[in-house]
Amino acid sequence: MTNPTTLRAPAPAERMSRVKESPSSRVADRVREFQAAGRKVLPLTIGEPDFDTPDHVKEAAIAAIRAGETKYTSANGTPALQKAITARLLRKTGQSYAGDEICVGGGAKQLIFLAFMATLDEGDEVIVPAPYWVSYPDMVTVNGGRPVTVATTADEGYKLTPDQLREAITDRTTWVVLNTPNNPTGAVYSESELRGLTDVVRAHPHVSILCDEIYDEINYGARPVPSAVTVAPDLRRRIFLVNGVSKAYAMTGWRIGYGAGAAGLCAAIGTLQSQSSSCPSSVSQAAAVAALDGGREFIDRTVGIYTERRDLLVSGLAAIDGLRPTAPEGGFYVWVDASALMGSVTPSGKRITTDAELAEHFLDTSGVVVISGDSYGCPGHFRASFALSSEIIGEAVAGLARSVELLRR
Ligand SMILES: Cc1ncc(COP(=O)(O)O)c(C=O)c1O
Repeated sequence: MTNPTTLRAPAPAERMSRVKESPSSRVADRVREFQAAGRKVLPLTIGEPDFDTPDHVKEAAIAAIRAGETKYTSANGTPALQKAITARLLRKTGQSYAGDEICVGGGAKQLIFLAFMATLDEGDEVIVPAPYWVSYPDMVTVNGGRPVTVATTADEGYKLTPDQLREAITDRTTWVVLNTPNNPTGAVYSESELRGLTDVVRAHPHVSILCDEIYDEINYGARPVPSAVTVAPDLRRRIFLVNGVSKAYAMTGWRIGYGAGAAGLCAAIGTLQSQSSSCPSSVSQAAAVAALDGGREFIDRTVGIYTERRDLLVSGLAAIDGLRPTAPEGGFYVWVDASALMGSVTPSGKRITTDAELAEHFLDTSGVVVISGDSYGCPGHFRASFALSSEIIGEAVAGLARSVELLRR
């Protein structure tokens, strides 16, 4: 006889009501449904490089396995990886970080999550400029904080201005998140823009900057991409730099990210990690050392390819009446203003009132999948990835042109 009480699943905690599934996973499910029905899909949703991890990185991982580097490491990373990270940070920012000012985790994502967990008390505020990477607000709320989104504008290049920052700061502000290059807009903050923002933060000693630089190697302008810590080295303890190997070295599945900042924060993150995952994968850490120490050939080659694809996608979208793409300065996404298409009517007579409905129309009529702007806190837009071959990008542009033409305005 079954006893109903033994069948009961654990009830979700209250905090689960504050977090939702990532929109990209939701879209991936929808794509799978379409493919299962035998329909061709052109996924401009891809959030990772389509290149393979470089061979020398794979070899380093294999060598680490053979050498028995298969045990727990210290929670904040092996000395070899900490050394490779400090060398990379010195090259990029001119700052020399000590080992206790570095932390290593299972991806930049985990480090951002743990940084919030380590620092936010109930009701503490985090300023998140919109459009934002989909995960920041949920990471803040699930850790008891309150995301304060500030809408940026196309006229300002989708960048937070010093005046906007000053206005958004309250007594409860703990962090301001700066993501440069930005996902989804591709915006890169210049040195003078960062100086303007760090001047505001300097005047508010209770505020720190979480600087997510995960796309910094994939950029189409000045190198290296300016960093907040370079323009304001005096704020070094109040700037938490986050980066990793996922995007630059096509290593998304290896799950290695790193952070650099105040020793106390890194220690707190290490404590949380020691009580949750113990440490990042030892083999992946060995691979990350090879990536960071391995020269720039892979990055230079892939950025050359991304540049061609970027130009193809931007010019293709710009030629479609009703779409206004912004050419990204970094990353591998194009941010597209589609507000001119709101209110238009599909061949089946349905009026499009949201960007989610527009994305659905693209999928239905040409199999092109994009992520709608509301996911990034900015309706009326969508994000299109170019981490795809030029052939797929060409087909997708042609498909979008057809879909837009079908709309009655
Ligand atoms: C802005 C931004 N930050 C962080 C991450 C996470 O990177 P990782 O793979 O190192 O966790 C992503 C991944 O999409 C991202 O777009």
